[in-house]
Amino acid sequence: MLNADKIKKDFPILKNLLVYLDNAATSQKPYQVINAIKDYYERYNANVHRGVYKIAVEATEKYEEAHRVVAKFINAFPNEIIFTRNTTESINLVAYSLGLKLKKDDEVVVSLMEHHSNFVPWQQICKITGAKFKVIPIDEKGNLKDYEKFITKNTKIVSITHASNVLGTINPIKEIINLAHKNGAIAIIDGAQSVPHFSVDVKDLDCDFLAFSGHKMLAPMGIGVLYGKQEILKSMGPFNYGGDMIREVKLNETKFNDLPWKFEAGTPNVEAAIGLVEAVKYLEKLGMNNIYSHTQYLTKYALFRLKEIPNIKVYGPEKRNCLISFKLGRLHPHDASAFLDELNIAIRGGHMCAQPLVNSLGEIAVARVSFYIYNTKEDVDKFVDGLKKAKGAFKV
Ligand SMILES: Cc1ncc(COP(=O)(O)O)c(C=O)c1O
Repeated sequence: MLNADKIKKDFPILKNLLVYLDNAATSQKPYQVINAIKDYYERYNANVHRGVYKIAVEATEKYEEAHRVVAKFINAFPNEIIFTRNTTESINLVAYSLGLKLKKDDEVVVSLMEHHSNFVPWQQICKITGAKFKVIPIDEKGNLKDYEKFITKNTKIVSITHASNVLGTINPIKEIINLAHKNGAIAIIDGAQSVPHFSVDVKDLDCDFLAFSGHKMLAPMGIGVLYGKQEILKSMGPFNYGGDMIREVKLNETKFNDLPWKFEAGTPNVEAAIGLVEAVKYLEKLGMNNIYSHTQYLTKYALFRLKEIPNIKVYGPEKRNCLISFKLGRLHPHDASAFLDELNIAIRGGHMCAQPLVNSLGEIAVARVSFYIYNTKEDVDKFVDGLKKAKGAFKV
């Protein structure tokens, strides 16, 4: 278990007794991250990969350190780490660079539990290329159903979430990657809800791509990561063209830069990369296994306490990642969220950017709580007690 009371003190926004339970949307940021960004702007703000003066060199070194730190965090090589804006852009990069090469009888396999960012790009690429868009269904518990049947010799791309942002399901991702490879397909993993919460090792998983966002793991918004196997990245064309991604430009010809810069066109988000370094160091210091145990404890405790409330429907499997989506009788999730907000408790209500999934549950919106390193048992108690008050107030 983590000492969440102590950790809370590193997060200035939590000083006003905010009970923040929307961590699946974005995490809060500790002083270590905020101060590193402040230090960059106060001491060495300069563009990277260009100037030879001292602060430009320091900014470039810090930016490149970010590739190394993130690579070590997921057991990759630094040139396999491409900085993007977020998970969405990471997936779009692969969709545009590889997906547009698909042909009519090719197949792309996703699942019903994908976030829109791993659903819409493939749906649209299939419309453009004529490839077949296949969606693995889920069973009544919220696990993938018969996924083996969906991956065939025609499958060229399998793009699946590691952990669902609605159901909390942690998918059997190694088996899926293995199956994709046996059929000659590329395996892409949406790690937006896994990388911040437990140890993810790309060599062990053997995935071809892994996409995740800095802002869900203590870093600023505006930086995402795309990990890709070097041999695949080398064989791919760029996604964006322009400055920094070139080696040599002639009147009618351009030679592209080495990895990862071939995929990082234009001025990158240097402050966010610097923040990401501190965020990863913060998480590593706590230990990813300790983080997982802590949020598992909170999730199990919350599931246990929610049983006290009659008429509540909880979605997803019993064994799950650190979030719980639910519906309380006829209470609209936005009303639940607005009521709890009056008690200084932040929870999410809505379609969770997963409309096909939420609609398949027979809903247009659900409410969700999601936990992270600074949440305590008392936060869970305040949430459950607040929800009981909402039930009374709305008479549901
Ligand atoms: C599973 C999953 N995938 C992708 C995303 C998209 O992340 P971003 O908005 O940072 O691109 C999210 C965000 O909630 C998510 O939960």
